[in-house]
Amino acid sequence: MSISANKTMDVFTCIETRHSTRKFKEEPVPQALLDKVIEAGRRAPAGKHKNQSHFLVVRKKEVLDKLAELVQQEFAKMEVTPENDDNFGGAIRASQKGNYRFLYNAPVLIIVANKKNYGNNFADVSCAMQNMMLAANALDLGSCWINQLRWLQDNPVLLDYLRSLGMTEDEAVYASLSVGLPATPDGLPGRNVMAIAGNPVTYVD
Ligand SMILES: Cc1cc2nc3c(=O)[nH]c(=O)nc-3n(C[C@H](O)[C@H](O)[C@H](O)COP(=O)(O)O)c2cc1C
Repeated sequence: MSISANKTMDVFTCIETRHSTRKFKEEPVPQALLDKVIEAGRRAPAGKHKNQSHFLVVRKKEVLDKLAELVQQEFAKMEVTPENDDNFGGAIRASQKGNYRFLYNAPVLIIVANKKNYGNNFADVSCAMQNMMLAANALDLGSCWINQLRWLQDNPVLLDYLRSLGMTEDEAVYASLSVGLPATPDGLPGRNVMAIAGNPVTYVD
């Protein structure tokens, strides 16, 4: 399906055609499109309308490289256990082999932090994430939810570095989003409409 950024995509089409992109072109994301994605995140609902998700938009190559390096370095120090294996055992194993590139070389990483002592932190950030992923799809951009910074949200090395980028002392990372132009033959994100699997529904009439 081909939909260009200057046409609108209806919300149901946008939802059913949204998929993760894990291969990106090197070229930058046009500012006007990135602005729309961030705006979509900032317009997401939030518990009690607190609106305290903090979007750190990283485009500097050295910072993206440093984040990749620190994440690999810190995962490599950890041990796979039965408790963590299903969540980030794969990240630990790949990091220990020295070939872990969790950002998929996207030109933009939007890190979404929120207040540590706020009960709806992860929920508010998740709403922002979904809005941004749908906006990216509507604008022909690729995006992928990146979880690694959340798994390492209490790691002192990552905390120090993220604070040096502007995250405040009372915040932690709950999600991040790689964004870029998809490196696909047609330049568009994959938009196969899949059959729905899982997520059971129980009507109670
Ligand atoms: C909470 C959450 C965490 C995720 N973490 C990652 C991740 O760290 N890396 C990744 O490549 N994809 C990640 N994903 C993307 C899922 O793997 C993906 O959405 C799922 O496989 C369905 O595929 P689709 O997005 O292409 O429809 C995450 C998605 C969610 C909702």
